[in-house]
Amino acid sequence: MNNEKYDQVNDETIKLLVDGFYEKVRRHEKLGAIFESMIGTSEEDWRPHLERMYQFWSSIILSTGRYHGNPMQKHMDIPQFEPELFDQWLELFEETAKELHTESIATNYIDKSKRVAESLKLALYYRPERKTP
Ligand code: HEM
Repeated sequence: MNNEKYDQVNDETIKLLVDGFYEKVRRHEKLGAIFESMIGTSEEDWRPHLERMYQFWSSIILSTGRYHGNPMQKHMDIPQFEPELFDQWLELFEETAKELHTESIATNYIDKSKRVAESLKLALYYRPERKTP
């Protein structure tokens, strides 16, 4: 088995990261159920989402501008789920990034994922009229 970790990011490593991450997500009881309800179960159902996620991470990490989408709206369209699931999403993402990449690259991915998660959480759960956040 090849245990070498990648110390750079390119289209191939992005694909490995995204495919590996969503394999974990699909096996996760609660996250898997949400994704299944929104996307489906077959490889064909999943192809467009995976392609979009390659573009998304390429834009975020390599600044390629390949992703054109509205993640806020997409997540607002998902039936409400518990905010704690974000921690589990981030945990699986961190695990995958560390399995694949050397530390500084994994850290870069993890920092960016946390930043996007925070803004998604604000969009999904923050209601200014409520006293306690
Ligand atoms: C518990 C947390 C999360 C859940 C349950 C979740 C769920 C989903 C689902 C079900 C979709 C597919 C929507 C569809 O195609 O109909 C989606 C799309 C997406 N998610 Fe998440 N997500 C979570 C967190 C995140 C985080 C933290 C990021 C970024 C770091 C992210 C980035 C995206 C992007 C870029 C898309 C594609 C939007 C598009 O179609 O353009 N998600 N998410």
